[in-house]
Amino acid sequence: MKIINNIKELKEEIKNLKGSTGLVPTMGALHKGHESLIKRCVKENDNAIVSVFVNPIQFGINEDLDKYPRTPEDDYKLCSDNGVKIVFAPKVSEMYDDNKDDLTLICPPYSIVNILCGKSRVGHFDGVCSVVAKLFNLTKANRAYFGKKDAQQLFIIKKMVKDLNFDIEIVPCEIVRCEDNLALSSRNKYLTFDERKIALNISKSLFEACNLYKTKTATKRAIIDNSLKLMEKLDIEYIEFVDKTTFKLQDEINDNTLMLIAARTPETKTRLIDNMELCK
Ligand code: PAJ
Repeated sequence: MKIINNIKELKEEIKNLKGSTGLVPTMGALHKGHESLIKRCVKENDNAIVSVFVNPIQFGINEDLDKYPRTPEDDYKLCSDNGVKIVFAPKVSEMYDDNKDDLTLICPPYSIVNILCGKSRVGHFDGVCSVVAKLFNLTKANRAYFGKKDAQQLFIIKKMVKDLNFDIEIVPCEIVRCEDNLALSSRNKYLTFDERKIALNISKSLFEACNLYKTKTATKRAIIDNSLKLMEKLDIEYIEFVDKTTFKLQDEINDNTLMLIAARTPETKTRLIDNMELCK
């Protein structure tokens, strides 16, 4: 496995690759959620590339850019153990030329960034789309793997690919959870012992929502009330319902509903997100 830090060397390597190429964009601190994307990428492509880059332009000024977990040696081992061919781990200056306040950006439309995570994280998805577009151009990948854990991100990336005619297939991957159903996240590292227990109520709300929906008598209001009760110790940012194909907010839930939650834990104020299709 090659670990590459600069763009020139990456381009040289890409030129020499034969067959299909898959890309898994990450911000590192890799866990079993990332690993599931990596395994699939290795299986489905002749060459698997993983990018490890904590992308500053997708973090807001009061967000956790500086303390975001960085575990490069463990990340490289996980990639190497899984048969990854190239890890691309550039410095910020390599990606943005020390010019990150003066960049050409890809900005998804207001209608999709003004809801859910984009509402509180202004500019976040501009940063995500811009770095992902750069990674697509640099790696010339045929496929790229994204987790359904970040459902709004996945929808926006698919839309960017369609709207801008990128020649790449986006492969959505299932959410990986711990045994107790907490969705895996690099940010789980911030949680205290007690907070982790409290955080379990996020996935619990989603699982219970699915069960309530299956009874066919539960309303959206009843599902929200149940979630509010379960998550009373969390600082809830949103509990929302969208149509999973259009990502439009729904007044009424139906078989196409994706339920999404974002909430902060009480002590470390860790922001956690999770989602689930009501009808599986
Ligand atoms: P990061 O949070 O590191 O996530 C990288 C990829 O792993 C994303 O596609 C995310 O959805 C997926 N992922 C994370 N946790 C997962 C889980 N529990 N189950 C399944 N997939 C999971 O998302 C980003 O980085 C960045 O925004 C990035 C796309 C790399 C752009 O900077």
